[in-house]
Amino acid sequence: MADETDENKTRKNGLYVDVSVELAENMKQGWADTERCDLEPIAQAPYTARRRAALSARFPGELLVVPAGNPKVRANDTDYPFRPSSDYAYLTGDQSQDSVLVLQPDADGKHLAVAYLLPRSDRENGEFWRDYHGELWDGRRNSLTENERLLGLPCRDIRTLAKRLAEATGPIRLLRGYDTGVDAALDHKVTAERDAEFRVALSEMRLLKDEFEIADLRHACQATARGFEDVVRFLGTDAPTAERAIEGRFWMRARTEGNDVGYASVCAAGAHATTLHWVRNDGEARPGELLLIDAGVESSNLYTADVTRTFPVDGRFTPVQRKVYDAVYAAQSAGIAAVRPGAKYRDFHHAAQRVLTEHLASWGLFGERSVDEAYELGLYRRWTLAGTGHMIGLDVHDCAKARTELYVEGTLETGMVLTVEPGLYFQLDDLTVPAEFRGIGVRIEDDLLVTDEGNENLSADLPRAADEVEAWMARLRG
Ligand code: GLY
Ligand code: MN
Ligand code: MN
Repeated sequence: MADETDENKTRKNGLYVDVSVELAENMKQGWADTERCDLEPIAQAPYTARRRAALSARFPGELLVVPAGNPKVRANDTDYPFRPSSDYAYLTGDQSQDSVLVLQPDADGKHLAVAYLLPRSDRENGEFWRDYHGELWDGRRNSLTENERLLGLPCRDIRTLAKRLAEATGPIRLLRGYDTGVDAALDHKVTAERDAEFRVALSEMRLLKDEFEIADLRHACQATARGFEDVVRFLGTDAPTAERAIEGRFWMRARTEGNDVGYASVCAAGAHATTLHWVRNDGEARPGELLLIDAGVESSNLYTADVTRTFPVDGRFTPVQRKVYDAVYAAQSAGIAAVRPGAKYRDFHHAAQRVLTEHLASWGLFGERSVDEAYELGLYRRWTLAGTGHMIGLDVHDCAKARTELYVEGTLETGMVLTVEPGLYFQLDDLTVPAEFRGIGVRIEDDLLVTDEGNENLSADLPRAADEVEAWMARLRG
């Protein structure tokens, strides 16, 4: 909110400028009533209600506070694009900045959920156009009544929250770290330990996806597949293509079919593919090289896919590229086969890494050591580098605060969604591998829904096997 109080000044390009009394008066009048009475609840509303009920049951009698968060300043009066905290979005379906969900304990041992939001801009006091975030500049907001219809819960003016929190008594839990004002207001009423428990509980609730989330993740994966197809059509077969142009091509799909990309896209050609977090994307993809793209469309409800494909820029794998690719493909297939309800979470990781170790051993990379020995000692990790997967959802690395016993040392259950993404990465300067391997990086990553029968590959619109990848590229290029 602007802190300028002078009646006759308003803010423009970050600076305050004087306005006449006549203009200030003029701007108060002549605006139509645009209140909408035709709004239906968002499709997610019944699901967010169930999620809030589950959270309520977990913390009876406690006041629960989940902020959306504040925009982050980039410089002066420009902010980074806003994205709400994932837990706020999960519990409300709303994406507006500075909002706060409060679950107030009631007499029945349940909670009344209230969303505190910024209402429409006041025309009378000039907030509409003189405030930096007034609707004239940032666009029309929903009124509180409109939001009540859309979100399916009572909505109040965020400017009344400070008083509500100041008066709050009894046990309180806060999702800290998103809203500096709320953190400060509750600082002496909460404890770090209890808030940490709250954060863990929220993360663990999200381990099992409901029908809405699964449908949204399926859409995100399908849109991601279309983004990969866009890239293949876009790639030059005779001339180099800039990695950033590739990134931009995928991003266009993400912005068209979803909200954004769910994380910074890795567009890594040639030896760049051996750098797991290659997001500089300042090189170029040349015919004859492999191109590794790790990218995911984030849906308009903020659920993200996380998919990697590695393919030859000119459409045909060389024999050595295919050798490495086939090893990763075999490892990923073994990993995917291990994804089923009742399996330990780590099973798919061990299955994939074991297959990679066998291939590395067959290429003589462990010298005299046996596969078992190399596996026990973890020697394969020089070339496999990362774990084999993680949960996805509202965050690309979803549920990261869940307790170890429920996640990495837990058991897979129907309704979980996770990636399986083994890879082999031979650095350019790695003298321990044959020269022909140096500078080759391959990862294949798919998004798996655990089902009663085993799993469903949500990203199966994209081919995985080398022959199928070549045929897919040839088909797209006509
Ligand atoms: N794209 C991030 C990951 O694969 O985990
Ligand atoms: Mn990825
Ligand atoms: Mn991943």
